[in-house]
Amino acid sequence: MSHFVAVDLSHASRLINHGPTVLVTSAHGGRANVMAAAWSMPVEFTPPRIAIVIDKKTCTRELIAASGAFGVCLPGTTLIDLTYAVGSTSGREVDKFERHGIRTRPGPVLGVPLIESGCAAWLECRWLPEPRAEDLYDTCFAEVVAAAADPRIFSEGHWTFRDDNAELQTIHHLGGGNFVCAGGTRKAAALP
Ligand SMILES: Cc1cc2nc3c(=O)[nH]c(=O)nc-3n(C[C@H](O)[C@H](O)[C@H](O)COP(=O)(O)O)c2cc1C
Repeated sequence: MSHFVAVDLSHASRLINHGPTVLVTSAHGGRANVMAAAWSMPVEFTPPRIAIVIDKKTCTRELIAASGAFGVCLPGTTLIDLTYAVGSTSGREVDKFERHGIRTRPGPVLGVPLIESGCAAWLECRWLPEPRAEDLYDTCFAEVVAAAADPRIFSEGHWTFRDDNAELQTIHHLGGGNFVCAGGTRKAAALP
């Protein structure tokens, strides 16, 4: 039973607007995988589209090319070790879901494996192959076809970072396994 609540697609870009490090999930032909990605961003409003850098050499990229889909899951602070671990090993060598006991549920539109436990939100994405760029760039474009979030931290289109939801707050990679945790929000005041 999921405790996540659907996010209106018009608000999906807000889930990654602030640059969280994410877990990219993928599956094809009985294989499933997850890797960490620090480089992602919204690029279009309607339909919502994102760009995410996924190295052509990764197992993830291979599964995305074969299935045409992937998930973007936003780990909270309790998943820092896991995020670093799945970003430091390849699915070609180990089944990361099995090794780390990661549970998933199928996405509502494409059936992509999605992680909810310890995560603040997820986006289910349909890959938009760009043949001219395939050999040149690691960047993947995708349309967000479904999104959902834990309502304790994202609801009605807005993040709310409070002391009582610190474990769900997003993480941001500084390099070398060092992360800064989100939080400490400030509201901009109107200038005179
Ligand atoms: C915190 C973190 C962030 C990362 N960000 C990216 C990224 O944005 N793009 C990328 O291609 N690889 C990134 N990586 C590296 C991949 O996660 C790594 O190559 C992974 O082992 C690929 O797994 P796979 O072969 O199972 O797909 C990151 C690694 C870490 C630890």
